[in-house]
Amino acid sequence: MKDVHVVVLAAGQGTRMKSQLPKVLHRLGGRPLIEHVLRSSDAIAPSTITLIVGHGGDQVRSAMVTRPNVRYALQEPQLGTAHALQQAEAELSGKEGTLVLLSGDVPMLTGQTLRRLLETHHSAGAAATVVTAVLERPYGYGRIVRSNGTIAKIVEERDASPEVRQIREINSGIYAFDLAPLFEALRGIASQNAQGEYYLTDLIAIYRRRKLPVETLLVENPLEIRGINSRTELAEVSRIVRQTKNEELMAAGVTIVDPATTYIDPDVEVGADTVIHPGVAIEGHTRVGAACEIHSHVRLVDCEIANKAVIQNFCLVIGSRIAEGASIGPFAHIRPESVVGEGAKIGNFVELKKTTMGPGAKANHLAYLGDATIGAKVNVGAGTITCNYDGTTKHPTVIEDGAFIGSDSQLIAPVRIGKGAYVAAGSSITNDVPDGALGIARSRQTNVTDWVERRTSQPKD
Ligand code: UD1
Ligand code: CA
Repeated sequence: MKDVHVVVLAAGQGTRMKSQLPKVLHRLGGRPLIEHVLRSSDAIAPSTITLIVGHGGDQVRSAMVTRPNVRYALQEPQLGTAHALQQAEAELSGKEGTLVLLSGDVPMLTGQTLRRLLETHHSAGAAATVVTAVLERPYGYGRIVRSNGTIAKIVEERDASPEVRQIREINSGIYAFDLAPLFEALRGIASQNAQGEYYLTDLIAIYRRRKLPVETLLVENPLEIRGINSRTELAEVSRIVRQTKNEELMAAGVTIVDPATTYIDPDVEVGADTVIHPGVAIEGHTRVGAACEIHSHVRLVDCEIANKAVIQNFCLVIGSRIAEGASIGPFAHIRPESVVGEGAKIGNFVELKKTTMGPGAKANHLAYLGDATIGAKVNVGAGTITCNYDGTTKHPTVIEDGAFIGSDSQLIAPVRIGKGAYVAAGSSITNDVPDGALGIARSRQTNVTDWVERRTSQPKD
């Protein structure tokens, strides 16, 4: 097997996005466009990957933390696709094998198509293989002009005659090239065309003149080669990505009440017999178990939700783990690094941050629990607040198994409430409460007898 080198063109401005963000960093199904492209290229195990960057190049580089092996070549100014590919020459000097050229804004290409591209290219012994598609509306794309069935040249829309514009087979902008003749041949490309750019597509006619064999690979599904040029196109393709994911999950036994309003990122896993109600977003690397119920208007980001958990309406759960049979919400906010134990219950208007709730523990109403470790079967009363922040540092609260925190208590951290201990309602707890004790920390009540009568009988001036 020959070495494969991937080059991705990502230097263009993406004018039609009207964005400060480079086009290839716009997100589709939760990941940047460029990440989709790189994932499809994983299927052909390239020995090198080079991104051609220009507009917003630094932003693209810093967004690529998970891809430390990617190399970069700067194209400045951007003089066309042939000029863009030329920038990879230094990175690839002395290398042999096959160069696969991808576009940073074509996110739906499958790894399978790339494998087929290599097979076609190698078995034909081609110098270049062009991925093509037949479109209902080919407007805007370069057209594949054939003579006697063989590709003769590619003509850009703007340079095409009315006859050539009738051709419905288009250039996807994805190619395989034999490295040997490539960079020398690129130098033969001129910029005498409607846009005054160096067109990579001119290489095909050059190769044919030199009798270098050129092949094509037709993809059946035009979605694969669809480029994203505007926010409208981004939204259209996003909808297709979501629909595909929803269909996949439904086929695997998940009930999605209204797929049109359900937003599930591609990497999310959901178990069978889970029911997902309208208006739910499940993002990132979230895993939802089997037989869960996710009610309307819930957003789950990078969470693990075990089997039979119930997330009631209007909850936001981020970076947390919800154990089997636990129940969250409605209107709960579970912030990162929280763990809600088996069968535990988090009720309405409860916020958790970096907090562990033991199995069977409850915080049913109106509480802030931050940096807290809460044991099994603890009952946290309404209005309880862990005062975890002194203005400088965060402090931990520990509530041992079976403790009972009366309503409207403040637990001023660092503090520990012992096993089975009680905190009286309305307490401001500043010291540890030992196991089995009652902590009571509030001023005593005084009743002023006959106060009302005395007030009303006072003479008015
Ligand atoms: C290109 C092809 C066209 C094909 C279409 C498929 C050429 C001349 N035309 O047209 O035949 O049908 O793609 O989508 O190749 N880029 C750079 N530097 C540049 C110019 C472009 O990196 O100087 C990058 C862009 O960021 C983009 C890709 O190359 O990722 C394609 O460029 P674009 O200008 O969008 O080409 P099209 O006009 O779409
Ligand atoms: Ca384009």
